[in-house]
Amino acid sequence: MKLVAGNSNRALAEAIAAYLNIPLGKCLVRRFADMEVFVEVQENVRGEDLFVVQSTSFPANDHLMELLIIIDALRRSSAQRITAVLPYFGYARQDRKPGPRTPISAKLVANLITRAGADRVMTLDLHAGQIQGFFDIPTDNLFAAPVMVRDIEERFNGNKLMVVSPDVGGVVRARGLAKRFDAPLAIVDKRRERAGESEVMNIIGDVEGHSCILVDDIVDSGGTLCNAAEALLAQGATDVSAYITHGVLSGGAVARITSSRLKELVVTDSIQATEAVRVSANIRVLSIAPLIGEAVGRTAREESVSSLFH
Ligand code: R5P
Repeated sequence: MKLVAGNSNRALAEAIAAYLNIPLGKCLVRRFADMEVFVEVQENVRGEDLFVVQSTSFPANDHLMELLIIIDALRRSSAQRITAVLPYFGYARQDRKPGPRTPISAKLVANLITRAGADRVMTLDLHAGQIQGFFDIPTDNLFAAPVMVRDIEERFNGNKLMVVSPDVGGVVRARGLAKRFDAPLAIVDKRRERAGESEVMNIIGDVEGHSCILVDDIVDSGGTLCNAAEALLAQGATDVSAYITHGVLSGGAVARITSSRLKELVVTDSIQATEAVRVSANIRVLSIAPLIGEAVGRTAREESVSSLFH
C-alpha cells in the first residue's frame, strides 16, 4: 500500500503515515502561473493499493480539484486500487435542494470523485450519513466519537454531565455520545415564530447544575455554538464546552469563540488548524490520525473497519 496527499492537510497525512509506519508517497502537487493544478507522482505506483489523503476544506474548490487530479494521475499510473480519504468532506451541507432551482452539490462532488477514478471513499463524521448513498462505490464513514469519548472521560471525570445537541438536526449524533456516558441529553430548539422576528432558543431538558457538552459535526461561523452556549448558561448550566469534529472556523469564528463564554471548543485535525486556532485560549485540537491510520491499515488488509467503533 501507499499513502499520498494533496496540500490541504499535510500534517495530518504525515501523522497517518507515521501511524502506519510508512513514508508519505512522493506526489508533487503544484500550481501553474494561472493557478491550474499540476500533479506529478514521483515514484512507481503500478499495481499498488493507493490512499489519497485530502480534506476538501478552505479553499474548498482548489483542494477538491487537487484531489481529482491526484486520483487521475494515479489511475493513469496503473494504481491497482485508489481510496479517496477525505477527513473533511466539504460540500456535504449541500445534500438536498433547499429551494426550487438549486443544486445538490454533495451529489455532484461524489460523482466527480467517482468519475475521476476512486474505487473507494473513506471519510469522517459525514454531515448526514445518507450522503454515503451518493457514491456508488464502497464508502466508509468513520466516527470521531471514540477519540472524543476518551478525552471527555479524562477531563470531566466526576462532573455532572449533560450532552447537548445545538439543533434538532443533530439529535442522533448527540444521543449516540450521551449513551456512551450514560449521560442525559438536552436539545437546543431554535425557533422563529414569525418572519422578521428574532430567533428564540428553547432548551429541551433541565440543564441546571450540569456541565454541558455541545456536540456537532461542523463549527463554521461559530454562531450556532455561541448562541447555544449563552442559552444553556441562561438556563443554569454550570459551564459549557463543545466537541465538534470539523473546525471549519471561517471568517471571524475564532474571535467569536475566544470572546464567548464557551469554556472550551475541542475540534479534530480533520481540517488543518490555522495559526489563530493554534494560539486561541479556548480552542484545543485532538488528532484523528491514529483512528484514520487504523482504518486505512484495516482497509488495506481487508479487515473490518466497523469493529473499530464497537
Ligand atoms: C448544520 O447543520 C451543522 O451541523 C452545523 O450546526 C453548522 O454548520 C454550524 O454552522 P455555524 O458555526 O456557522 O453556526
